[in-house]
Amino acid sequence: MIQELPAEVMVREVGPRDGLQAEDRWVDTADKIKLIDLLSKSGLKRIEATSFVHPKAIPQLRDAAETMGGIERAPGVRYEAIVPNVKGAERAVEAGMDGIGIFISATETHNRSNVRMSVAESLKHIRGIVETAAAAEIAVKGSVVVAFGCPYEGDVSSERIFRVIRGYRELGIRDILLGDTTGMGNPAQVHRTVRAILEEFPEVALTLHFHDTRGTGLANVLAGLEAGVLSYDASIGGLGGCPYAPGATGNIATEDLVYMLEEMGVRTGVDLDALLDCARFAATLVDHDLPGHVLKAGKRTRPAPRP
Ligand code: COA
Ligand code: ZN
Repeated sequence: MIQELPAEVMVREVGPRDGLQAEDRWVDTADKIKLIDLLSKSGLKRIEATSFVHPKAIPQLRDAAETMGGIERAPGVRYEAIVPNVKGAERAVEAGMDGIGIFISATETHNRSNVRMSVAESLKHIRGIVETAAAAEIAVKGSVVVAFGCPYEGDVSSERIFRVIRGYRELGIRDILLGDTTGMGNPAQVHRTVRAILEEFPEVALTLHFHDTRGTGLANVLAGLEAGVLSYDASIGGLGGCPYAPGATGNIATEDLVYMLEEMGVRTGVDLDALLDCARFAATLVDHDLPGHVLKAGKRTRPAPRP
């Protein structure tokens, strides 16, 4: 039962990064720029615009610097990027990012396949990233990847998550993101996990990042709201997929998330009509239908012809 909903939450757009990195079709730099610029005019205040990783690891985003060089920076919008190492952090600083995201998997197998380091090595390595960001006065967010289930190792214990968060806290990182990278989480688990984390680390500011791979994405958001989380990731139109499951859908769709929150009376500051325009544009960039529901059905107040 929903006890009490917050008055307002932060919706962070990750489509240009998480969405596009999982799409097969190459999206031209000019179209990436157009997508980011459209999103920045919808009222979204945080956009994960790209990543500065090895171009062979994620070829879809090999034009990260050119993309950032071409966008029109909207006032009040924070443009963020994820980086896997110090080299990525240096490239992000040079591109003028407002925020950097570090990512470490909760499990060894996933971390190794993603960044070719053990979790312990990653926890050591990130000091350099934090120092690079601090020198440039850029905020750092620490992500725990596969926090709700790992495609290789299955269930993930709280202790695995705590270990990574502890590493972030030792470096002074307070912004923590929990990623359900392959959509394995369920609402009861989300509630339980968030409560456990906030009990262990009451000072952290959590962001939840859900993929809708198995249809539990928005239910997981509701569980996060009930557990007290005020920040959520989503991708426009539900752009993206899952590298481990061909045909699977990507993140929860931004317009679906904003629709649900606003209908429940939770303010997002985002204009749904503008988001739907963004989603329609995003749909032209890929070879398949986007999974967003509101994109297909329209707003519930859209007048329908009487039978
Ligand atoms: N950007 C661009 N080039 C990079 C780079 C970065 N962030 N990091 C390393 N490189 C280059 C190095 O300069 C080096 O180039 P050289 O051969 O010309 O000297 C080369 O890559 C190898 O460097 P190394 O440190 O050995 O990297 P690696 O081959 O072990 O790859 C990662 C490790 C982390 C760079 C790579 O696996 C990666 O980018 N992973 C990101 C995956 C991702 O984005 N996943 C999705 C997010 S959840
Ligand atoms: Zn993701």
